[in-house]
Amino acid sequence: MTPETPAREIPSTDIDPFSMESLADPFAADGAVREIAPVVHIAKHDYYAVTRFADIRKGLRNWRVFSSTDRPFYEDSEFRPRIVLFEEPPAHTRTKSAIMDVLGPKNLGWMGEYFKEQADTLVDKLLSEETVTADGYMDLSIGYVLKVFPDVIGMPEEGREALLKFGSAGLNTFGPDSEHRARKLAAGAEAVAWVERNIDRDALSPDGLGAQLYAMADEGRISEAEARDLVKTVFAAGFDTSTSGIASMLRAFGDFPAEWQKLRDDPDLVTAAWEEALRFYPPNRFGGRWTPNGADVDGYRLPAGAKVLMMWLGAARDPREYDEPDVFKIDREMPNGHLSFGFGLHTCAGNLVARLEATTLLRSMATRISAVERAGVPRTAINYQAFGHEYAPLRLRRA
Ligand code: HEM
Repeated sequence: MTPETPAREIPSTDIDPFSMESLADPFAADGAVREIAPVVHIAKHDYYAVTRFADIRKGLRNWRVFSSTDRPFYEDSEFRPRIVLFEEPPAHTRTKSAIMDVLGPKNLGWMGEYFKEQADTLVDKLLSEETVTADGYMDLSIGYVLKVFPDVIGMPEEGREALLKFGSAGLNTFGPDSEHRARKLAAGAEAVAWVERNIDRDALSPDGLGAQLYAMADEGRISEAEARDLVKTVFAAGFDTSTSGIASMLRAFGDFPAEWQKLRDDPDLVTAAWEEALRFYPPNRFGGRWTPNGADVDGYRLPAGAKVLMMWLGAARDPREYDEPDVFKIDREMPNGHLSFGFGLHTCAGNLVARLEATTLLRSMATRISAVERAGVPRTAINYQAFGHEYAPLRLRRA
């Protein structure tokens, strides 16, 4: 847009992305908003949605324009520390490099071995008969992640199920006040005491990722309070997202059984399969931003101070970016990738761990299971910011 070109008027919609109807089918709701325009005013809440793949990706490249220091529905919360996600350089550079260091290559080797050992054990145990029925959420995703993730961080065994409620509450904070939100936050509040106790230095085992963050405080790289907040962020950001992603991937295989055969024929497709699962069912629905000085999106002008939802779940099914977006295709070409780990400055700090965790389980399953099919009606969890399955019934045939 040049200074002479008048900005196009941003259309407004009565579709409420946070209504119970939208939460029951966010792909339909966010897809409908996406097809109105690249930027849409959400009348009910007076926020703006950036809806399409190319515009979200472009916007996220510029953190000064789409700032993350504030966002729709923001209020201080015991579930979501401000560290990293709400920060910008230079503070963000320091804290993100600390957390990336711990969640990066230096720890991936031993984690990978441990993940494999646990995945193989779990899958072998599950396949007690030639054909078994299992819940992709509880039996596989939770059974695996609730073991390996807290173990590598160094959390105690006892009470770790608190992570389920804590994660779910955290991802329900960014939405309007409602009975649904109040219920989720109340359930999460029960988990907070456990979390607060177990992010303390003394509660963590000396050889886990949590202890490594505290060691950085000892070296003066970050403060003691920042180390504690980073451990809490790992608790908050890393559990629900991974469990949702894995359960959703398994549901997708149940619905598209021919894709499992492709994986059996070429188990090296595990990496591509996980990326496609993240695209097909993004575990995180949107990112919140604001525009301190306004922003241009494809000829539309967002005002200064606008609160913005970057709707990457809707963008994951954008036909302008993906052929047959509603089809789960594990060998799909994705030249621009997907937005399910975010993009730009705030790209997920735990993406390598999440990728390792999920692909290790998938590889273990692919070598042991000859066929996967749906065995009942799956159920998605109702959540403002997360998307995932709380029930994914599957029939698995032993290879
Ligand atoms: C499938 C699993 C996961 C998904 C889909 C996911 C998704 C995301 C997304 C979309 C963002 C960007 C948010 C934004 O820009 O507003 C993000 C950021 C982040 N994630 Fe993840 N995440 C996953 C797993 C993890 C894990 C396992 C950890 C930690 C162990 C983690 C830690 C973080 C942190 C610290 C940030 C903030 C990064 C920053 O602000 O620079 N995530 N994640």
